[in-house]
Parts: sequence; structure tokens; C-alpha cells
Amino acid sequence: MTVQSTPSAVRIVEVGPRDGLQNIRDEVPTATKLELIRRLKGTGLNIIELTSVVSPRAIPQLADCHAVLGDPGVQTLLKNGSPRLPVLVPNIKGLEIAVQHGAKEVAVFISATEGFSKVNINCTVEQGIERARQVAALALESNVVARGYVSCIFADPYDGPTPEQAVLRCIKALLDAGCYEVSLGDTLGVGSPSSVRALVKYLTNNGIPLERLAGHFHDTYGQAVANVWEAYNCGMRVFDSSVGGLGGCPFAPGAKGNVASEDLVYMFHNAGVDTGVDLDKLADTGVWISKKLSKANFSRAGTALATKESIKSFNTKTTTHKNVSLQWTLISKTEGLQLYRSGVNLKIILNRPKNGNALTAAMISNLTAAINDASKDPQISRIVITANGRFFCTGMDLGKGSTPVAQGGSTSDTQFERLTGIFEAIDRSPKVTVACMNGPAFGGGVGLAFSCDIRLCTRSTVLTLSEVKLGLCPATISKYIIRECGVAFAREVMLSARPVTAAELKTRGLVSDVAERSEQLNEHLDALLTRLKIASPNASRMSKELVKLAWAHAGGEKQASGIKSLFEEMMCPNSDGAHGVKEFQAGRKIDWDAYIQGLTKSKL
Ligand code: HMG
Ligand code: MG
Repeated sequence: MTVQSTPSAVRIVEVGPRDGLQNIRDEVPTATKLELIRRLKGTGLNIIELTSVVSPRAIPQLADCHAVLGDPGVQTLLKNGSPRLPVLVPNIKGLEIAVQHGAKEVAVFISATEGFSKVNINCTVEQGIERARQVAALALESNVVARGYVSCIFADPYDGPTPEQAVLRCIKALLDAGCYEVSLGDTLGVGSPSSVRALVKYLTNNGIPLERLAGHFHDTYGQAVANVWEAYNCGMRVFDSSVGGLGGCPFAPGAKGNVASEDLVYMFHNAGVDTGVDLDKLADTGVWISKKLSKANFSRAGTALATKESIKSFNTKTTTHKNVSLQWTLISKTEGLQLYRSGVNLKIILNRPKNGNALTAAMISNLTAAINDASKDPQISRIVITANGRFFCTGMDLGKGSTPVAQGGSTSDTQFERLTGIFEAIDRSPKVTVACMNGPAFGGGVGLAFSCDIRLCTRSTVLTLSEVKLGLCPATISKYIIRECGVAFAREVMLSARPVTAAELKTRGLVSDVAERSEQLNEHLDALLTRLKIASPNASRMSKELVKLAWAHAGGEKQASGIKSLFEEMMCPNSDGAHGVKEFQAGRKIDWDAYIQGLTKSKL
């Protein structure tokens, strides 16, 4: 199956290397611009506006556009076509230069207002439209796609408020000229959510499709994030932003930078909306470029994340906290799975990252076998399920040719047994089971998480019970979901297929720990496993049974007799309890991992 993404996912157009830099007076070395582009690419952004090819007298900062475009690294990216790298061009001359350098996408720009049009591109609105029309037409002839910008959507620095009709006229002209979308530029950053909503409503009422619009909000009055959110709630899905909140135009005096990319990504991720961007890497890039430019970092999320990081590294340096990184050894590899071992811990890694770790029949069988084997192994105390790649697990493989859905009869029975088998194997395991979620999960992937005892996740994790959207229901996993989440919440997420974010999971106590950065997840996991050395595996097993008795037979005869037999087991002379209490009385702390390994060794 192909990787699912949340339906509300947004597209971010990073304009840092162009809008972000164009208004900076001191020359920024070309090497810094190239490094910025490289770092932005590394964050997962897949549209980065590279530079502009405009009059060097108008924008001296970007006079090195030839060097940027001609750079071998940029040339490779342009050839690959990923990320997309639009180039801002005001006229045919700019287009020709961009095309000569292999640009596959250009952005043309006009103003809805006369004053700004005159100072920015030295022509009237009508002449600007005509110029953009010619550039877009020639671009399309050269197999280059064109995006459009309309500036001053709310106000002009010289003319005052902008009539909605003027914006509409420009958008229509750019779309008619062949632009695939038009970015609405609040050049002065004077808009607020109410003006955004009113304008979007006016435009859609006048026949402009939402999917042809993008938002480009400057942050002069601190409204840019709110404006993006409002536009998102109006149905728009494409937003321009600059890392570190850089940006501005020399011909729009007093205007501040673009909405900071970090703030935008932080906001969307916390709302469960996928951006495909690694926020931590983006925040690092914001810190890096701000330092390089000796400018304040205008991203609130970026500075908050950086502060948190520096406090954390200070604490790590100044406390005697032991390095808890465990040594993991690969012990086997089967279709879509890797098994690692560290002492009494087994780590099972779902390894089908290109398919979002969607579970094939073979993977399910191998996973079930691995869990059943580990459950019988006295030298294993804990079983971890985690995954490689961006997703934890996107559920059952529903790809063509592999889906057992809609076949009925014995196929249905086999699939039922297969699925019941895997979730029961996890649920019935006497070992402590841990779901270590490196990213989003859907359907059966959520089932894997909720059949485990303990869950950790990254900030990018979003859980979605997406079955109802496909006409399915979360049948075999429902008992674990309902048990862990409670009836009301489980019902709501099953019926709505609503993405539940890491923040909400933590608030609801459904995950024990959230790693801010994906690369920190393993540290969190190793720390948890190390902490659990204080727990006897037998006592953990008995505690799991107590929870199950309470869940399935609360107040009944089975619970009472179950508690009694566990009590007797605990009180036996050769129980873990006998050893634990003896060590306690002698004033010694117990490392149960070492104890188990010693015991099993002496028994062999
Ligand atoms: P003009 O003076 O009317 O044009 O400027 P011209 O054709 O007479 O040319 C003047 C000089 O510029 C000539 O050089 C041309 O060769 C050169 P000279 O002979 O004097 O040495 N020239 C160029 N050089 C390189 N590349 C070119 C190019 N074109 C001409 N493509 C023009 C008209 C449009 C060229 C000028 O006004 C200009 O470059 N303006 C661009 C201003 C600009 O880049 N502003 C910032 C971007 S817009 C923005 O930030 C808003 C946005 O972010 C959305 C929002 O926030 O609203 C997109
Ligand atoms: Mg701008």
C-alpha cells in the first residue's frame, strides 16, 4: 500500500533564501545562502524558493543569483526535481536566466495596488499583469511551471487599504495566464484573521477555487500565525514561510518578516496536520541562520525549542546522569522485520519504511512468531516494537494484489486468525511490552501500540483509527483500544477517524513519554529499559495479570480467585518476592536484569 497521510496535510513553500534574505543590507556570502538551501532541504521541506533574478540595483542582496543557480549542488537538486525550487522572476529577462540554469518553476509577481507596483516593479498594475502574462506564457512554452504572487492584498504602503476587487482581478489574471496557483501576499503584514476570512470568502464567492490559493503572510502586527490558521480553517492548504521569520521587502518600509516556518510547523504538528518537515532540524536551521546573519531569531517556536535544548544539554552536563545508551546486537532479519537484542531486552523493528511499515501477511506471521518465541524465553524480560522510517505502522497492507479485504470466505477467516494472533500474542505475553512509536500510525498500527503495556512516541506521532473512512471497522484491535483509551474517547476516535496528536496522547496518559526530536527516541527508550531494571520480571508479569483480572472480571469471582493465587505465588519461599525482601533487609538495591541473567545462567 502507499503511505497514508492525513487528509488535512499542508504544503509549505519556504521562501527564506529569497524573501528572507532580499531585504538584508549587509552582503550575505553566497556560500551561506547555499548552506541555508542545503539545510532547508535536510528538514524535509519540499518547496524552497531559491532566489530571485531581478535588477541587482533593485535588490543588491540577490545579485549573486547566477552563482546560486549555477552552484553544482543546486544544479543537482534542479536536475533531480526534488525538492521543487522555484525562482522569482519579474520579467522575460529573469525568466530566461532562470531557464538557462535549469529552473523548472518560476514565480511571477504583481501588486494589486498602483503605489507598490510602481516602486517595486516600476510599472502600473495593468502593465504588471501584462508582463506576468508574457512571462507565464513563455515559461509554459519552455516546460517551466509558473506560480503567481499578488502583493498588498490588504493594504499598500502608499495607497492605503486595498479594494477586494483589485485582488480578485489580479488573481484571475494570473490564473488565466497559466499560473497553477496564486499566493496572496500580505506584504505589509497588516491583515488579521477577520480580514483573512473576509477576503477568502469574497474570492471563493467570486469563483476562485481554494486549491488555487496560497497564503503569504508577513508578521508586522504579530498576526501571521493566526492568519495562517484562519486561512487553513477556511480551507486553504498552501502557505509560504521563512525560517527564523526572516523576510521583508525594501519597497514595503516597516514591514516585518514572513511567518516563521518553525511556528507554522509547530502549530500544524500540534494540530495533527502533517507538513512532512522535521521541526527540530528546522529549528536548528533557524538558530544557525540567525547566528550567521547576526540577527534575532524571530521564530517563537524556534527560540523556545533552542532554549529547551540548551537547558537540557546543560542539565545533562551538570548532573551525574549516567549515559544510558544500550548496546543492541542484530540477531535476525526476516521479511519486513529486524530483531535486535540487548541483555534481557528484545527489540523488534518493522522494516518496510517505503511502505509506511504497512503489515504484509508474512510480516504479521514473523512478528507473531518473534513475540511468541520471546514470550517463552526466560532470558527475555521486555519486548519492544518500533520501526524504521517516518511512520510507525500504517496498518495492514491494503495495496493492490496484497489485500485480503473484500474476498470473504476462507480468506476472511485466515486474515481474522492472523490478526487476532498477532494482537493476542502481544497482549498475552508475560513480558513487559513497549511500543516505541517513531512516527504516525494508522489502523492496525494503532492496534500494535495499544496492545502493548507501555508506549513512547516522538512529537511527530499522530494516531488515526482510519478504518471507517474505507468502510472498515477496527475489529480485532478494538478491545485493546477501548481498554486503554476508555469507552467514550475510543468511540469518538473510532467514529471520527480523527488524528490524535502526541500532545493529546500525553495529556490523556496514553503515552508515558514524548521525544521532542525523532533521533532522541532511542535515548528515551534505552532510559526506560534501564529504569525498568528495578522491576522483577515475575512481579511485572503478576502485575499485568492483576490489571487483566480487574479489567475483565472487576469485582467478580474470577478476580478474587486470581488475586489469591497470585498472592500465594508471590509469598512462595523461592519467589522473586523472597529474594527482593531479603535484599531490601540487607540494604541492597536489586538489578533484576543481572539477577535474571545470573539465575538463568546458573540454571542452564
Ligand atoms: P526597470 O528599471 O523598469 O527595468 O525595472 P529595465 O528593464 O529598464 O532594467 C533596468 C536595469 O535592470 C537594466 O540594467 C536591466 O538589465 C536590469 P542596466 O542596463 O541599468 O544596467 N534588469 C535585470 N537584471 C537582472 N535580472 C532581471 C532584470 N531585469 C532588468 N530580471 C524591474 C523593472 C522589474 C526589473 C525592477 O523593478 C526589479 O527588478 N524589481 C524587482 C524588485 C523586487 O525584487 N522586489 C522584491 C520581490 S517582490 C516581494 O517581495 C513581494 C512578495 O514577497 C509577496 C509579498 O510579500 O507581497 C513576492
Ligand atoms: Mg513577501
